Amino acid sequence: MKTIMRMFLALLLCFVLSQANGQKFENLAERPPMGWNSWNKFGCEINEKIIKEVADAMTSNGMKAAGYEYIVIDDCWQIGRDSLGNILADPDRFPSGISSLVDYVHANGLKFGIYSDAGTATCQGRPGSRGYEFQDARTYAKWNVDYLKYDWCFHGKQNAEASYTLMRDAIYKAGRPMVLSICEWGTNKPWEWGKNVGHLWRTTEDIINCFDCKNNWGGLGVLQIIDLHTEIGEYSGPGHWNDPDMLEIGNGVLTPAEERLHLSMWAMFSAPLMAGNDIRNMSAETLKLLTNKEVLEIDQDKLGISATRWMKYGDLEIWFKPLSDNNYAFCFINRSNQPITINHDLKTTIKKFKVDGNYKVRDVWKHKDVGTTKENVVGVLPAHDVIMLKLTQIFL
Ligand code: GAL
Repeated sequence: MKTIMRMFLALLLCFVLSQANGQKFENLAERPPMGWNSWNKFGCEINEKIIKEVADAMTSNGMKAAGYEYIVIDDCWQIGRDSLGNILADPDRFPSGISSLVDYVHANGLKFGIYSDAGTATCQGRPGSRGYEFQDARTYAKWNVDYLKYDWCFHGKQNAEASYTLMRDAIYKAGRPMVLSICEWGTNKPWEWGKNVGHLWRTTEDIINCFDCKNNWGGLGVLQIIDLHTEIGEYSGPGHWNDPDMLEIGNGVLTPAEERLHLSMWAMFSAPLMAGNDIRNMSAETLKLLTNKEVLEIDQDKLGISATRWMKYGDLEIWFKPLSDNNYAFCFINRSNQPITINHDLKTTIKKFKVDGNYKVRDVWKHKDVGTTKENVVGVLPAHDVIMLKLTQIFL
């Protein structure tokens, strides 16, 4: 009898624990999320006026139509907690409160993202969610937030997987589907455990506004981030994406060629695309680049496969990405300060991937069909530039 009683109690405990645990809200990020985040351009200098104007700009300038959807406020919106522990927005910068800002963004047909940190404080020293996970998730749910970027400063000895799982469970318990963006900079290999925890995970330290550089706190340029994606592509896919960080396009440092290369490679990685510039005041060229439909389609391809670096000849690299409907994307990137002459037989390359047949070759930056795989890709690739090609099978 005692044994039966024990078994019953053990089963009851399992049931109670399984109810307490949460799970990830599914089907929220079947394609890599696209949107805008305040950090790269504004840092802590954010306020509700900027966020509203950004939402208006995204709606009216064609970005929304091109697929950009989330408006994410990053660090520094929060200032403290009230006596009950509720998180408080900075009243000087957000006098109308976050809830009304969310309504404003929603009224534009867009979604709203917020930022917090798994540790005791955010990276800018604002209150973190440690110990307040369920309360904060309830607050975000009450405000109708759609997306949470969850950082990793001041985490002490916390275990990353457990900390992010706790916030996942808190969101689930709060009952409002929210995309969970894990931002622990790739430190604890989130690609190995993040799939059932969040919808995207940062793979690296912060992007900095340069093409080929590092800084002393670990910030990385575009090339340095690309180099960290040669081995981890297989972990990314629909609902769970590698996140190589937000875009630096339109922030005044990268050349047009470098910006093309940046967006092309993020698209090759099926990366979340978060614009990081002041989209209220950008040049026509920047807007055109950010909304290049053919490039965005490669990013958003429903297979969600991340590219493989197929060849590296010194400073010339060739990346390959399978797309749906038996199509393929190729990127030729020139890392060097010198032009590189190309004469490449794509037919032989695709055969090595066991891909047969004849393909139409289209240059997605020039918006031009440039031949078929019967001919070599021939040309001069300027310094830091990219050729991005889409191959579509020709049925005879
Ligand atoms: C970093 C994070 C950045 C930004 C910043 C804000 O840890 O990687 O993307 O959110 O904190 O303080």
